[in-house]
Amino acid sequence: MKAPIKRDEVAKHKEKNDCWVYDVTHFLDEHPGGAGTILAYAGKDATAGFQPIHNTDVLDLLPENCLLGQAEEGGKEETKAKPEDHKTAQKEADKQQLPESPGGKPPLDQMLNLMDFESVARDVMKKEGWGYYSSGGDDEITLRENHLAFQRIWLRPRVMVDVSKIDMRTTMMGSESSLPLYITATALGRLADPEGEVVLTRAAYSEGIIQMCPTLASNSLEEMIKARKPGQTQWYQLYVNKNRQLTEKIVKKAEDGGMKALFVTVDAPALGRREKDMRNKFAASAPDVQKGQVNRQQGTARAISTFIDPSLSWKDMQWLKTMTKMPIVLKGIQTGEDALLAYKYGAKAIVVSNHGGRQLDTARSGIEALAEVVEALKEVDREGKMEIYVDGGIRRGSDIFKAIALGAKGVGIGRPMLYSLAAYGQPGVERAIQLLKDELEMVMRLMGTPTIADIKREMIDTKSLSLHFVPAPRDHLTESIYEPMRAAKL
Ligand SMILES: Cc1cc2nc3c(=O)[nH]c(=O)nc-3n(C[C@H](O)[C@H](O)[C@H](O)COP(=O)(O)O)c2cc1C
Repeated sequence: MKAPIKRDEVAKHKEKNDCWVYDVTHFLDEHPGGAGTILAYAGKDATAGFQPIHNTDVLDLLPENCLLGQAEEGGKEETKAKPEDHKTAQKEADKQQLPESPGGKPPLDQMLNLMDFESVARDVMKKEGWGYYSSGGDDEITLRENHLAFQRIWLRPRVMVDVSKIDMRTTMMGSESSLPLYITATALGRLADPEGEVVLTRAAYSEGIIQMCPTLASNSLEEMIKARKPGQTQWYQLYVNKNRQLTEKIVKKAEDGGMKALFVTVDAPALGRREKDMRNKFAASAPDVQKGQVNRQQGTARAISTFIDPSLSWKDMQWLKTMTKMPIVLKGIQTGEDALLAYKYGAKAIVVSNHGGRQLDTARSGIEALAEVVEALKEVDREGKMEIYVDGGIRRGSDIFKAIALGAKGVGIGRPMLYSLAAYGQPGVERAIQLLKDELEMVMRLMGTPTIADIKREMIDTKSLSLHFVPAPRDHLTESIYEPMRAAKL
């Protein structure tokens, strides 16, 4: 047995790259907490810094010759770690958790899921933009339920299927897409990025997905059309204006500009009360469809939406259909009854949606309404000619999988595109889409579904979907472990 190492001897080794009694010099760069945290204790007793974070088993992972010997008991003051050493170590550890990028935000490659983008966007966005994007109607119960409902659907994976190749490609309204996901219409892109929706156009192109362009875009229709690359698909979202002639003019412009489908929003005859948004006065410039009718006192949403026609009804379906050759899609269907009417009146497709929980609070989630809609349509549309889309709360690849299994042709995604745009611009939006692709690919592999066509209804268990208050235990582990990604204070 080696003689105890004198504390005087330990104290001599406080230079960089020289740590005793364990010599972990070679390990400095590999230390998950960073070299700095170890060096803060170089030449000193690091026990107080080590113990709260590690168990002693990790020392077995070091090569044997790292252990130089045992230090003697006691020792001089200078070999004891001081409060300032712990502070230095903590600062070094913090740096590892949140490496700074030039903008004060975590580097983009640290964004591992869509919630990360939301956290960073909250830190970097102005109050007006954050309030407008993040708000939901009244108590925001539907806003939360949109996402939570996916957690009440359980997966039934199949095994022993060749999943060496996964193909996520599909078609939506006759256009190709790299996965069953599109960027849905969300107004006022300039609150996220000074360039506005055209950045989403570019990101949609590079990721091979479809963009739905909003009536209330910050960019003009021409700008969004101009930003489109050859072969790229865009759809147009329409709010019917009280001035019907103006509506016809806009629709013609969209059709002439090469938009491939007309998504008429039918869930907003009045704008929901979005209190977080209403507390802010609308300061940004209004979209060009406004023609000066802007009341700036009641938040962004109300300021820009006074022109929407509340008299729109099923009787107008004929008018809509004769106005354009674009297929008509009704966005905002929430019941089996209305899905049947949409079919009867000749809609080519529907989007099951509650407007991202921004309209009628305590309306059911999009995914729950989808289950009802699919059942109702089975009776009349046996061949599934009318395509069904869904949006609201899609945040994971598994959410996309569940929606497809329930009978959706594709899913729309709103806020995460705005948050990733606000936080990191085009590369952010692209990364958000890539993360969803990675997640969906993994889920498809683990579910035994090499192609979208292999995703079947029996692969999901929806018994709990319509039970809104299930006495389930809280997931304390996940709740305490997930650390929201935050930007450093700017
Ligand atoms: C900031 C914001 C603006 C929106 N603007 C519109 C709009 O102008 N027209 C429309 O039909 N839907 C609009 N929506 C609703 C979205 O198209 C979509 O239904 C919803 O965002 C989906 O939910 P998600 O945000 O949870 O993905 C908006 C949603 C948000 C969050």
